[in-house]
Amino acid sequence: MLAGKRILLIIGGGIAAYKTLLLIRELRSAGAALTPVLTQAGTQFVTPLSVAALAGEKPYQELFDLTDEAEMGHIELSRTADLVVVAPATADLMAKMAAGLADDLATTLLLATDKRVLLAPAMNVRMWQHPATRRNVAVLRDDGILFAGPDEGEMACGEFGPGRMAEPGTIMDAIRNALGQGAGTGPLAGRHVIVTSGPTHEPIDPVRYIANRSSGAQGTAIAAALRDLGARVSFITGPADVAPPVGVNVVAVQTAREMEQAVKAALPADVAVFAAAVADWRVKNAGAHKIKKDGTGNLPVLEFAENPDILAGIAGLTKERPALVVGFAAETDDVVANATRKRHRKGCDWIVANDVSPGTGIMGGDENAVVLITGEGTEEWPRMGKDEVARRLAARIAETLG
Ligand code: CTP
Repeated sequence: MLAGKRILLIIGGGIAAYKTLLLIRELRSAGAALTPVLTQAGTQFVTPLSVAALAGEKPYQELFDLTDEAEMGHIELSRTADLVVVAPATADLMAKMAAGLADDLATTLLLATDKRVLLAPAMNVRMWQHPATRRNVAVLRDDGILFAGPDEGEMACGEFGPGRMAEPGTIMDAIRNALGQGAGTGPLAGRHVIVTSGPTHEPIDPVRYIANRSSGAQGTAIAAALRDLGARVSFITGPADVAPPVGVNVVAVQTAREMEQAVKAALPADVAVFAAAVADWRVKNAGAHKIKKDGTGNLPVLEFAENPDILAGIAGLTKERPALVVGFAAETDDVVANATRKRHRKGCDWIVANDVSPGTGIMGGDENAVVLITGEGTEEWPRMGKDEVARRLAARIAETLG
């Protein structure tokens, strides 16, 4: 089931590490390749030899191990895997991750990776319930980190409650889900969704461009929310302020025309959500050379050409039209009336309309107040965080697709 997949497995320092040896065996028999990493504390519980014997690969241990660095740098090491799994994830490791610390090999890999990270926490019940750990878990969940467990039960220390590391079988299920191979996991499992996000940059000359104030925050949150419901997400983004979510296929573009090509290349898809603030015009006479002041005081003249409307193009496809096409409408006046017209004009199924007038603080802010316009009518959502808007929209999409 996991043939061709590589798991970077970080073994933290906890008594539950003995169960990680069983996990390694399960991963190997499912066909996965392993890159084991053993923390200093981990070596107190399992030996490098037992890990190497079961994993079929010697565990990496030191950040500044010259031989390993010569073979493969830590950045590369953090990215060669399909998924990063931390088992056991100790309270200390999670606190470091939440704070972004990188003071050993494991934490450096966790900070440098561009892959999804799955934690199997294991700790004493008081440590798990401590407000500091609760805070750290909330931060990590917000960062898109996945969790398997912990279970409730009797612990090695004799106490009872949540904190026991999930069983290898449970962690295996979580690994399959994270790799998009879960059986019926999440309402959007098996679905492919395209999300466009961010602004586009339209060159004037090799050093100058025309852009807009989109931060990419709403599109990024939507991609993450769809991913969390099990969808395979193609995330096509212009140069945004916020980092793309982990666990999605990121296609970075600059211009509207590049974005259009990337969207077409990502088809077929079940759903397409067009959250990008695409520049309506590009500079027709953009040059290969920097425009210079020639000393005469003559001003350069820019000629414009209209960019393709990506949303309208995809909504109008006869072959390969996604079953659900969702557009956005950023309006400053008559939001609902303008957005309703836009829905018809562009031929999309839904429009997520918002008022981006100065003073609303929505453009570039953390919150959004949207109106969802569908074939059935208009729904006004209260002002809420962009993450919450994304979760609600993703849930509506899942519901509609059934
Ligand atoms: N859009 C697109 N390609 C474009 C322009 C817009 O895909 N070239 C998409 C946006 O991603 C968004 C929707 O169309 O989902 C609405 O974009 P908006 O800029 O609000 O509308 P415009 O088409 O620019 O209409 P107007 O200028 O009249 O507001």
